Amino acid sequence: MADKYVPTREDRFSFGIWTVGWQGTDVFGGPVRPPMAADRAVRKLAELGAYGVNFHDNDVFDFDDAATERDAKITAFKKALEETGTVVTTATTNLFGHPMFKDGAFTANEREVRRFALAKVMRNLDLAAELGARTYVFWGGREGAESGAAKDVRAALDRYAEGLNTLSQYVLDQGYQIRFAVEPKPNEPRGDILLPTVGHALAFINSLEHPEMVGVNPEVGHEEMAGVNYAHGIAQALWHGKLFHIDLNGQHGPRYDQDLRFGAGNARGAFWVVDTLLAGGYDGPVHFDFKPPRTEDDDGVWESAKACMTNYLILRDKVRAFRADPEVVAALAASRAGELAQPTLASGETWRDVRETTVDADALGARGLGYERLDQLALEHLYGTR
Ligand code: GCO
Ligand code: MN
Ligand code: MN
Repeated sequence: MADKYVPTREDRFSFGIWTVGWQGTDVFGGPVRPPMAADRAVRKLAELGAYGVNFHDNDVFDFDDAATERDAKITAFKKALEETGTVVTTATTNLFGHPMFKDGAFTANEREVRRFALAKVMRNLDLAAELGARTYVFWGGREGAESGAAKDVRAALDRYAEGLNTLSQYVLDQGYQIRFAVEPKPNEPRGDILLPTVGHALAFINSLEHPEMVGVNPEVGHEEMAGVNYAHGIAQALWHGKLFHIDLNGQHGPRYDQDLRFGAGNARGAFWVVDTLLAGGYDGPVHFDFKPPRTEDDDGVWESAKACMTNYLILRDKVRAFRADPEVVAALAASRAGELAQPTLASGETWRDVRETTVDADALGARGLGYERLDQLALEHLYGTR
């Protein structure tokens, strides 16, 4: 393939350590691949052209490792980061794997679980800060319920907010340069997860004590599982100044969380995702959260990781070509797409100036907008015939 699709550090691609490290355990079968140490993941990802990584505490060391074992694993991780010049863009906490978190972490009914969850986050925030991470992700996969009476949702949201408020205060008191990014998901592993979509998360953030410290980390597959448009979701997050991070991957419509490599699944959606990121001035890491399918051996894992970056670069090229195409520029003008940037009221006008507006309703109703032409041009760029 042409050289232009080889990733460079300037592309700021990053991966979760758990993505390439996924052993393939699912509800129907055990692992298909051996465990991968975090330092190996770092070295291989760097070799492929990734710039950064994101990690859960327990991607680097196990939940019940003794202190010496944990420290040795952290040292190996740090060594790989240093030797490869890999940046830790992001970190997060595993608050879902251990059986104690079966009813959630910050919103578990049992208070002891909630207190321990806060401690577990604070300990990993220390490591995240030491490694230079600027974003800390909160994916509340176990914060939810399968049944009605078991979870008082309003009380759970109180506890969720309390958890994030306490942790914001911790970051401020420690002087860490870290912002939080809440990652919405509608279901899986819980039957219904709290903060199921970008919209729910944005509304929740406004009720926190330090809303300025908290944004969102939307994932392609999670929004598409909820049947909503991911590009629209990140556009709204950008509009609120809240797109702190992204989890790019692929998904085929509303079904289980497929975590396909970026560009697989809804390819047309992926085109608009890249277009939205480029147009919206997103400046965080271009982060992938996918799972190499169980069919793959070690070679297949790296093939799949590399393809996430290749597909992003291909789509970036196509999006740029689409935007630069004179026929697209003309079609956009014919569709009056630019007119939307013009305020409805002129400067100095009030409702008084529009209260008596009349229009030629029949003419407006009869006028076509030419969106089919515009969308077909986009598809032709995507399909590679332009
Ligand atoms: C999932 C989530 C997770 C989170 C990760 C980081 O559906 O499994 O996407 O992979 O992104 O735990 O918070
Ligand atoms: Mn996912
Ligand atoms: Mn994710």
